[in-house]
Amino acid sequence: MSNKDSRRLIAVSNRLPIVVKEEDGRWQLAAGAGGLVTALSPVLKRHRGMWIGWPGCDEAAPLEELVARFAEQEGYRLGTVPLTQEEVEDYYEGFSNMTLWPLFHDLLGLCQFNAQHWRAYVEVNRRFAEVTAKKIAREDLVWVQDYQLMLMGGRLRELGVKNPLAFFLHIPFPSLDLFRRLPWKMEILRGLLEFDLVGFQTLRDRRNFVACARELIPGLRAEVHRRTTVLRDEERAVRVGHFPISIDFGEFNNQARGREVADAAWYLHEKFANRQLLLGVDRLDYTKGIPERLLAFERALELYPELHGKLSLLQIVVPSRTQVPEYQSLKEQLDQLAGRINGRFGEPGWIPIHYMFRSLDRVQLLAHYRAAEIALITPLRDGMNLVAKEYCAASVDNNGVLILSEFAGAAEELGKGALLVNPYDLDGTAEAIRRAYTMEQGERQRRMRMLRASIQRNNVHRWVDYFVNSL
Ligand code: ADP
Ligand code: F6P
Repeated sequence: MSNKDSRRLIAVSNRLPIVVKEEDGRWQLAAGAGGLVTALSPVLKRHRGMWIGWPGCDEAAPLEELVARFAEQEGYRLGTVPLTQEEVEDYYEGFSNMTLWPLFHDLLGLCQFNAQHWRAYVEVNRRFAEVTAKKIAREDLVWVQDYQLMLMGGRLRELGVKNPLAFFLHIPFPSLDLFRRLPWKMEILRGLLEFDLVGFQTLRDRRNFVACARELIPGLRAEVHRRTTVLRDEERAVRVGHFPISIDFGEFNNQARGREVADAAWYLHEKFANRQLLLGVDRLDYTKGIPERLLAFERALELYPELHGKLSLLQIVVPSRTQVPEYQSLKEQLDQLAGRINGRFGEPGWIPIHYMFRSLDRVQLLAHYRAAEIALITPLRDGMNLVAKEYCAASVDNNGVLILSEFAGAAEELGKGALLVNPYDLDGTAEAIRRAYTMEQGERQRRMRMLRASIQRNNVHRWVDYFVNSL
């Protein structure tokens, strides 16, 4: 979509780039967290369209005033879909994050299949569609994001919306064997097939979706092209493609080169003088493989005593979905693991694991990326993982080594420059840590240049153009 294109871009996602909160009796705007917000914010700023989503509150908040202030500052408008506490529990925490999230990340054992949660999901998708239908003009391109809103296409069509409708899934799409377990699989599949274009992160996700649709929907024909597959029945044709999402490379790269970040990175370096820094940055989520990562670091300390006192793991975790029980127990598990490993290996003057449970602002985040000689990014399964791309974009001295899980979507693009690991293989990950620690300057620079060039080429603006041009 070029800037001259007259169609407005209407992005619809569960989460907005802001969260409205009441603190000390005053309503405030806080930044929304997560990969979707990081990726879409620069896109909306450039296209000046509209972003519709849940503002993190119910109808009681003075939304109009807050949202108008945001539009003035950021240059694009927001549409809000407030949710009641019950809807948050059943649609967001329940069906989205206790059913779809674990199922789509291959963790069937964590899934709950609850009919009340399902009904709330249907109802909230209908509400998002109603709000969207009221806000759009005939020429607008409606682009629905992620697993929380997979039924919106059908609901918009029921409301008579004739606009081009696109959908992008930010998380993986599971194999047929897993998807079949979902009691509402047909509704979800049919819902997705109401869009004109359905996009996935990787070729594997696209193939999984096409396999599910062909197996479960009789009479559906598939024409496979290089960039997309067209699924057809008697009435309709739906284009299905894979479009790996990215970041605004220029923005991360420029900010990372700035004085403020350079000073903060230098300060961090001084704190870790004479030792290398191994960095993990994640939302608190069981898909991110954080306990396995701490155990792999422990294994590295067991196997390679030469690392003692020379390498520290700095793990930063941002709180997320704190009302979901699985997330609460993960927090307890991390506290316990970090304490145990530090107790076992720590020495005066050297703490093996520094663990911070909080969000960092952009300057601090970039300073940590710049200062860390190694990034350890080891999700058990991840749609893409933007932290991996951010780390490379901020490694402006080409000095960093990226250790990356082979089960992150990012591994398809970054596999050549990164050291790929299987996060379930503790010995293999420990060996990669040692290899990164001892990697010579020449190899570090060669790998990081390759990674940065790829992310610079495939940045988030190219992702939008590629996606929209496929419609
Ligand atoms: P997900 O979409 O599952 O949240 P991604 O890796 O794609 O995972 O995106 C996570 C986003 O959240 C990134 O933009 C990253 O910078 C941000 N983030 C993660 N942890 C922190 C933290 N502790 N402080 C600030 N930002 C964070
Ligand atoms: O990419 C997966 C995703 O659910 C995004 O939609 C969101 O940006 C991120 O994870 C954070 O999750 P939540 O919106 O539930 O806090």
